Amino acid sequence: MCGIVGYVGEKRAAPILLDGLQKLEYRGYDSAGIAVFDGKILHIVKKKGRVKELEPARALRGNCGIGHTRWATHGAPSEKNAHPHTYRKFTLVHNGIIENAHILREECLSRGEIFSSETDSEVIAHLISDCYEGNFAAAVCEASKRLQGSFALAVLFGDCPGTIVCARRHSPLVVGREKGGLFVASDVPAIAAEGVEIFSLGDGEFAALHAGEIQFFDEDLRPVLPHPVEYSCKEDAPALGGYRHFMRKEMSEIPAVLRKNSVDFLSNSQFSAFCEVLCHAEYIQIVACGTAYHAGLCAAYAFEKICRVPCEVSIASEYRYRDPIVPQNTVCFAVSQSGETADTLAAAQIAREKGAFLAAVTNVAYSSLTRISDAVLLTNAGREVAVAATKSFNAQLMLLYGVAAFLATKKGREVPPLAELPQAAAGALEVSEEVRGWTAHFLSAKSVFFLGRGADYFTALEGSLKLKEITYLPSEGYPAGELKHGTLALIEKNTPVVAVVTQRELAEKTMNAVHEVYARGAKIFLVTRFEELRARKEVFASVLLPACPEEFSPAVAVIPLQALAYYLSLARGNDPDKPRNLAKSVTVE
Ligand code: M6R
Repeated sequence: MCGIVGYVGEKRAAPILLDGLQKLEYRGYDSAGIAVFDGKILHIVKKKGRVKELEPARALRGNCGIGHTRWATHGAPSEKNAHPHTYRKFTLVHNGIIENAHILREECLSRGEIFSSETDSEVIAHLISDCYEGNFAAAVCEASKRLQGSFALAVLFGDCPGTIVCARRHSPLVVGREKGGLFVASDVPAIAAEGVEIFSLGDGEFAALHAGEIQFFDEDLRPVLPHPVEYSCKEDAPALGGYRHFMRKEMSEIPAVLRKNSVDFLSNSQFSAFCEVLCHAEYIQIVACGTAYHAGLCAAYAFEKICRVPCEVSIASEYRYRDPIVPQNTVCFAVSQSGETADTLAAAQIAREKGAFLAAVTNVAYSSLTRISDAVLLTNAGREVAVAATKSFNAQLMLLYGVAAFLATKKGREVPPLAELPQAAAGALEVSEEVRGWTAHFLSAKSVFFLGRGADYFTALEGSLKLKEITYLPSEGYPAGELKHGTLALIEKNTPVVAVVTQRELAEKTMNAVHEVYARGAKIFLVTRFEELRARKEVFASVLLPACPEEFSPAVAVIPLQALAYYLSLARGNDPDKPRNLAKSVTVE
């Protein structure tokens, strides 16, 4: 992952780099660094930890520089491994993974070259230096040919202090131009401002930023046309608005986000081409990662239940390497908040190459996913800052449930009332405050279990992921009926078990499992919409959810689980917005 930013122009580079890196911290935040030319000398400042550690470097003079915020892949998070990396006169920042780095490094070592970090990135600086024969851009191109894997690069050269050469393969990179200045960044928000034109770099392309001009090249240094990016500066200024953390603020937006995503696919002409294809779909595939994968599972449940169309959901990193079968008339939904998740992009591309109609379900209009898709369903959830996905999950569900409702209507099938969800979510948010009182019982737990059946199982999976991600407590989401086949052995006295029960037909079945874990000492926390279950002797504490259609209940039932993770994270002294080891956008394999 990692975030890259670069500037060359009339302004001082350091403040632009630091402000840009702050906006890219969602891509990684274990160390950061900048390099700035002051006309004579290249100043490099690197720190372990967050971008704010670089603040003293804001005072650096110089109009050309590059910066980086890191999510470690090769080499521990440390000052030594922080970017930029320099070899001889070349200094660079890199996002991605160089898969043949160990081989290339050995070659360099055998020539007597010395390395100062454990990163795969440093070897790129060596290669560029070794390939240099008088043309800076050509050296970057030549070196890139030897790299396997993914990269987005911004490179400085000591002999050309006013030039930045950029390159990308399978990792996103955009460049920007304003009067008197040029930019490069991993993502639009880092450089978006009034008067800045932004262009995406195509896969395998290069750009040279120099003297107010951007030149775009293909891999053989032939000029190519720029790809302008449409964006709005207004959408990217998220503020806490009185909340302590973005995660809690983003949860509070869920009812409004559900309303925004109540799309009537029957009457909305914007989606007519997509709807036409969907009506003829014989098979649906969904590819996604993490929380988006859980949204896919919930959506598939609704597609099968109310539309009776077979639907298969795959973790994108598995799908891409299993030579998947894509039957005729398949619609594939690639679900991704960021639209930049490397595994989801690769899986989506494979599905499309194998003949599927590819529909992107994403929150970012100008993402890589939107560019490769046949149809784009935007979740309009507003920017999500917290690493733990909350409102984007509910938004994905609402949109996909809308698609399912459309398809069911077209097939003459009964459709549960989707319009109830925003109101029910508002009610769920209110009762979610009650779970704050549960946290004391989870603090010293060795592990936590989330149980459910049917749609509740997917809610349990998402609740468990949220808990792991921001509390660092081991946790499992489990199908309630499967517990007795082995996992029950893990239940001890006072093990917290959260049971999700919203499906009438399956309620007593889940309660059987609740009874089984209770009998072995577990402490039961119930999230249910059935008042009568709360009084059962097994139940230690419970919240009562507002009623909503069972097929769509994860969009509501997940809210107390998100709240539980949030409050427990606070109780454990963690930063829920920036959990350790993680990043918001996972642009590497
Ligand atoms: O941007 P994407 O939706 O493609 O991201 C997928 C996962 O990385 C993401 O959902 C991750 O699991 C979240 N941090 C979970 O809260």
